[in-house]
Formats: sequence, C-alpha cells, structure tokens
Amino acid sequence: MKQGLYTIAENKPLTEAVYRLRLAGDTSAITAPGQFVNIALPGLYLRRPISVCDVQEGLVTLAYKIAGRGTEQLTAMRPGTRLDVLSGLGNGFDVSLSGDEPLLLGGGIGSAPLYLLAKQLRAAGKTVRAVLGFNALNEDFCSGWFRALGCEVTVTIADGTGGAPRYVTDALPSGYSFYYACGPEPMLRAVFDRTAGPGQLSFEERMGCGFGACMGCTHQMRTGPKRICKDGPVFRKEEIAWPD
Ligand SMILES: Cc1cc2nc3c(=O)[nH]c(=O)nc-3n(C[C@H](O)[C@H](O)[C@H](O)COP(=O)(O)OP(=O)(O)OC[C@H]3O[C@@H](n4cnc5c(N)ncnc54)[C@H](O)[C@@H]3O)c2cc1C
Ligand code: FES
Repeated sequence: MKQGLYTIAENKPLTEAVYRLRLAGDTSAITAPGQFVNIALPGLYLRRPISVCDVQEGLVTLAYKIAGRGTEQLTAMRPGTRLDVLSGLGNGFDVSLSGDEPLLLGGGIGSAPLYLLAKQLRAAGKTVRAVLGFNALNEDFCSGWFRALGCEVTVTIADGTGGAPRYVTDALPSGYSFYYACGPEPMLRAVFDRTAGPGQLSFEERMGCGFGACMGCTHQMRTGPKRICKDGPVFRKEEIAWPD
C-alpha cells in the first residue's frame, strides 16, 4: 500500500451516473487487477474505495457511479485537483488461475475492475468471454471496451430492453475454464449458486480504514473471519460462506 497525492487528469461522465476518473501519480503499488484505491474527500471522515479499472505507469483509471455524498462531490472535481489516495489495496484477482477460456461476470459498476483483468488475460492469449449486466441499456458504460480487447461480450439488461437476457445468470455460457465475478452481492450469490466450475468473486463492504487495521469490514468465511479490504476483496468460491 502507498499513500500519495494524485492529480486529476480526467473526470468525465460516461453515462448519466457513471464517471471515468483518471489520476496521475505513483502507480507502483498496484500489482493486480481487482485491487482498489481509497480516496480522501474534503469534509468526509472516511475515504471512499474505488476499484482500479485500468493502470499504466503513472496513470490509474477508475470508473465510479454516483451513490451518495462522496461520489456526488467527486463529479464536480476538475482536472488539476489534487487528491490524497491510498493505492494498491486488496489482494486482486489471480490471473494464473484462469485456464485458457476464462469467463468474466460483471454486474453494473462491478464490471469496471474486470476491464484490467480482461486486458491482462487477452495479453496472455486467453479466449475471454464476458457477460456484463446493467439495469437499463443506457447504463452500459463499458461493454465496448471489452469488445475492443477482443472479448466475446454478452450484455444483459434487467428491464429486458430489446429482448436481451435480464440477468447475468440468464446468460451463463458453458465450457469456460474459470470464472471471475464482481458485482452487487445478490448477483454474486446467484452466480455462486448457479455455477459448478471454479471461480473467484469480488466483494464490496462499507469500509473504515481500507487496509486491514480496523476490522470493520470483517466477513465470516469458511476459513474463518476475513477482512474484505485486506484478505479480499477477491475470494475463491470454495472460501465463501453466505449468511443465512
Ligand atoms: C473494494 C471496493 C471497491 C469498489 N469499487 C467501486 C468502483 O469501482 N466504482 C464505484 O462506483 N464504486 C465502487 N465501490 C463502492 C463505493 O465505494 C461506494 O459507492 C462509495 O464509497 C459511496 O460513497 P458515497 O459517499 O458516494 O455514498 P455514501 O453516502 O457513503 O453511501 C451511499 C449509499 O451507498 C452505499 N455504500 C457506501 N459505501 C459502500 C460500499 N463500500 N459498498 C457498498 N455500498 C456502499 C451506502 O450503504 C448507501 O446506501 C467499491 C467499494 C469497495 C468496498
Ligand atoms: S476496512 Fe478496516 S479492516 Fe477492512
């Protein structure tokens, strides 16, 4: 983990509620797709965690959805503004588990961290399929990015627009070697219940410190209590225990 000042290089709306934020600064602590950064915002006591969507040396790309005060405040921040950011948080996805034909399952803004994963898998020569779910067609902020990488993409739309499948679990293909999922907890649970093969799932939780010190994000897993921020946010399927 590293703490540093980052300069906003871009903060641009992609849809009505989703923005792309590019931050220039030290990216050396970011080592795996699925890690996150934790951003301090003026007047807010707790930092706001956002997943790494893409990274190049000295530039990290995030995609955030307006959820409340912090993300709303972020939308008004202009290029050149400096932000205090903790980077390189969390374990991230394990690319080495993918096999030759990995499947990516994204729910809404949870599709963002799958982009860097897709990029690395494609660079390693894998055949990548992605099923990305949105509530409505105009909320799809990223399926084109995955197509541009050469992934085979299926978009699901919860309101059923154009006869699209409604949920990610309505469009699960067969024959994948490993799956990676990120999205809201009900989606993760449905994916968990309906997939037989091995996979990794990325969880969200309200966070205090974001780096393992406060225990505020602890979940009971099969292997004991785990901190979503430090032991996760990514867990292997067999580690996961759901609350009753
Ligand atoms: C590891 C991790 C990665 C994340 N990655 C992204 C991302 O890439 N893009 C993105 O848009 N969001 C992401 N989130 C969620 C994001 O952190 C919250 O939406 C944000 O902190 C809300 O802040 P706010 O001040 O706008 O809203 P608040 O006013 O704090 O909250 C508004 C609503 O959002 C809910 N909420 C707040 N924080 C979280 C949280 N951590 N998890 C789930 N629900 C929350 C609250 O319960 C409330 O209903 C991530 C969260 C985690 C833990
Ligand atoms: S948020 Fe403090 S331990 Fe996870």
